[in-house]
Amino acid sequence: MNKILVTGGCGYIGSHTLVDLIDHGFDVISVDNLCNATEKSLDGIYKINGKRVKNYQVDLTNERELAHVFSENKDIIGVIHFAALKAVGESVEKPLLYYKNNLIGLLNILDNMARFSIPNLIFSSSCSVYGNTSVLPVTELTLKQEAESPYGRTKQMGEDILMDLAKTDSQIATILLRYFNPAGAHESAFIGESPANPASNLVPVITEAAANKRPPLTVFGTDYPTRDGSCIRDYIHVMDLANAHTLALQYLLENKKEEKCTVFNLGIGKGVSVLEALSAFEQETKVKAPFILGERRPGDVVEIYADFHKAAEKLGWEPKRSIGDIMRTAWEWEKVKNQ
Ligand code: UD1
Repeated sequence: MNKILVTGGCGYIGSHTLVDLIDHGFDVISVDNLCNATEKSLDGIYKINGKRVKNYQVDLTNERELAHVFSENKDIIGVIHFAALKAVGESVEKPLLYYKNNLIGLLNILDNMARFSIPNLIFSSSCSVYGNTSVLPVTELTLKQEAESPYGRTKQMGEDILMDLAKTDSQIATILLRYFNPAGAHESAFIGESPANPASNLVPVITEAAANKRPPLTVFGTDYPTRDGSCIRDYIHVMDLANAHTLALQYLLENKKEEKCTVFNLGIGKGVSVLEALSAFEQETKVKAPFILGERRPGDVVEIYADFHKAAEKLGWEPKRSIGDIMRTAWEWEKVKNQ
């Protein structure tokens, strides 16, 4: 009686979270339409812990098919909702696709949770809800600025929907997890980040450039007001992030919540610049990632890193892995990912 439905279970953060949930004794199913992932990640999970996860290849905007998944699994006690489109640039070009997918998907999940009396929801949010903030590190109380992209706005709107719901007599308790920059892979290198679409996030771009699978990467901007002129982010290892989901779920299930909707930042609390990330890669792997210095990328925030004390205090969570661990595991994954 501890079945958790994970949407986006074949994707990057979803698959790593499935591993952590299984390791902690949860029974899991996945709903993933495979628009940016494949079921190969489920084979990787099987190699790690011997559990075959069932995936329903269903689009969350398809009300009928989604309702069928819920009616076939009436013993679900919680939902972790990862499935969403997340490419910032694409969202600028195709805003309606992002609003439709990310918001209707969430609304359909909530409808089914109400219908089948499922009381616990964890929602994947993002530090992008803070926009270009000058208050650092950001706490959960830092005021949100206007989102830099339609993608970021879908996360803000998703949060607003859940905060409004919490003010009603709805039986659904929610945790909003604001991820900073997830990166790295499972130690086994059986799963990692392998989007169907070309990677654009820094760490996979570094590992692909180092493996000569793409041209040298461009450092986007060298004249920012930071210690070396490049942007600063808070890179968090995906397995630390995965574990926060398990702890958040346990927090809801053990009824420790003080509010119906609780927000947590998930970062390691330290900023790393793009040039420092490149050095960390080289130091950890002894391989050079070729790069050139280039222009700023539109929409980038200058610097952001988390205050994660709330997650430490309430969830007992602490990030255990460093930027070096991120680079080492990402590199191990890069070497095997297409085999
Ligand atoms: C973005 C989103 C974040 C989202 C994440 C998911 C914003 C402000 N942030 O994070 O909400 O969760 O994507 O994918 O919309 N960089 C280079 N060269 C490259 C690639 C990146 O220099 O080839 C730099 C970027 O300028 C940035 C840093 O590396 O400073 C990290 O970039 P990236 O990995 O794309 O993540 P964010 O833009 O921080």
